[in-house]
Amino acid sequence: MVDRIPLIAGNWKLNQDHLQAIALVQKLAWTLQDGKHDHAAVEVAVFPPFTDLRSVQTLISAEKFELRFGAQDVSQHESGAHTGEVSAAMLAKLECAYAIVGHSERRQDHHETDAVVGRKAAAALAQGVTPVICVGETAEDLEQHGASAVPVRQLREVLAELPASGEVVVAYEPVWAIGSGRAATSEQAQQVCQALRQAIAEVRGDEAAAATRILYGGSVKSGNIAGFMREPDVDGALVGGASLDAAEFAAIARYQ
Ligand code: G3P
Repeated sequence: MVDRIPLIAGNWKLNQDHLQAIALVQKLAWTLQDGKHDHAAVEVAVFPPFTDLRSVQTLISAEKFELRFGAQDVSQHESGAHTGEVSAAMLAKLECAYAIVGHSERRQDHHETDAVVGRKAAAALAQGVTPVICVGETAEDLEQHGASAVPVRQLREVLAELPASGEVVVAYEPVWAIGSGRAATSEQAQQVCQALRQAIAEVRGDEAAAATRILYGGSVKSGNIAGFMREPDVDGALVGGASLDAAEFAAIARYQ
């Protein structure tokens, strides 16, 4: 049995300019320190907008804060004529540990397909940036196909674009639970995360499946995180709204 270090990740989405980001990261780091957060036991990462990344990196490295950070997206392209894109190599140079790919808001707003998401994940991996692959069903999918079918299909299609090895993180985010205040139950999250782990085992082998962290996301708060973390296949959370409040996000990170 491989030990998976839980990951509590804060996706800030389209919030916080770089000055606000500095203040939020400082407050978060201090709150975690005051609360005697066990950094070895739980990893905490923030995902600010691109324009904040340099400031966040400078602050974290200067202050030696035990926080990691990542980007909310990454280009599938390496370089060249792709206006507005940010490459995985640029993120790697900035010491980004992670890049979220395939968030449902990007799938919706930018019509990203599983193949595109897979190429983005592959681009990140090639530069040593760990992709956080988001999958999840809509309310309609849930009604028509049950909870697991769509996320499992999405994950299989993304994994098909990837080399057989290299760390990935998977985030199960039911679209109906995002920003709705209506989180999945911990049993629902477990059921889908278990199915996702099974899919990883089939594509990448049992060892990789046992080592891969699978997060739950969708209306996670300090009041419901403990239930998710008790589930055997849930290894952390991808938190949206609640990650913008340092005290609340720190409380989520101290879920025990
Ligand atoms: O990526 C995290 C997210 O989509 C969940 O958002 O606001 O429901 O925690 P929220």
